[in-house]
Amino acid sequence: MNYPKIKKAVFPVAGFGTRFLPVTKSQPKEMLPVVDKPVIQYLVEEAVQSGIEEIIIVTGRGKRAIEDYFDQSFELEHNLVEKGKTDLLREVLEIPNLAKFIYVRQSVPKGDGDAIMQAFNIVKDEPFAVLFGDDLVVHEVPAIKQLMQVYEQTGSSVVALTEVLDTELSSYGVVNVKDFKSANLEITDLVEKPKTRAEAPSNLGVIGKYIITPEVLAVLNDLYKKPIISGELRLADALKLAVNSGVPVYGKLIEGERFDTGSKLGLIKATIDFAMRRQDLAPELKEFLKRYV
Ligand code: G1P
Repeated sequence: MNYPKIKKAVFPVAGFGTRFLPVTKSQPKEMLPVVDKPVIQYLVEEAVQSGIEEIIIVTGRGKRAIEDYFDQSFELEHNLVEKGKTDLLREVLEIPNLAKFIYVRQSVPKGDGDAIMQAFNIVKDEPFAVLFGDDLVVHEVPAIKQLMQVYEQTGSSVVALTEVLDTELSSYGVVNVKDFKSANLEITDLVEKPKTRAEAPSNLGVIGKYIITPEVLAVLNDLYKKPIISGELRLADALKLAVNSGVPVYGKLIEGERFDTGSKLGLIKATIDFAMRRQDLAPELKEFLKRYV
């Protein structure tokens, strides 16, 4: 079957970034650097390398730096031309041309599901990708592309999965699947942030990357129209409801190394790993790290 191609990606980035305070007091957590690029640029590149053409960023107050970053910067470009710094100039010029960027605002941070609903009129009835601002995956096949490959076979929504330690399950949405041995894992239940190991149906946790079909968006839209009792509308609520009402949703155990840049340790690990892949930094960094090990 030929299912519609996925050309749009929604980035809900309006959260406060409380885990990184105080640095996130006046700067979006998505702009924190891994070596010399902000986390969000790696995610935009992941989407673009997967075939996405339009990036819809759902921002909020205090997130202007993201818009400025993906815009042109005439003074800087002029300065780099004058100084003859052509390599840096090329790099800077590439950023606004990575994709078509669209910005919508979420006035009150009422959850990632509410954020996605701010893009409802832009995605309309097309399937689309969702990338939360936290998870970097290093693999020759970008993580979103891995999800698209399952979508292309099933025509269904797909969530990214990773194996999670028992002690960390309570921070994740945890899935149950029809057949753990099957190549395409059909999800039968989703327990958001299980309080105990016994409540978790498996050790497979959802990481913040999704393909969302119009069927699941319709479920989210129904929830959006109702009063939100908890104060937040989460994508996980819609996915659980969809699965429980028979809408097919698949999981993909993501290949590659994953860094949770939403945690301090994860960001430090990503920084070291990415720096160690760079010839200009690796030799000296390796020497330096010997002090600690
Ligand atoms: C969200 C999702 C959760 C998922 C997690 C991955 O939670 O609701 O299912 O496991 O992202 O990062 P959050 O961490 O935003 O509270």
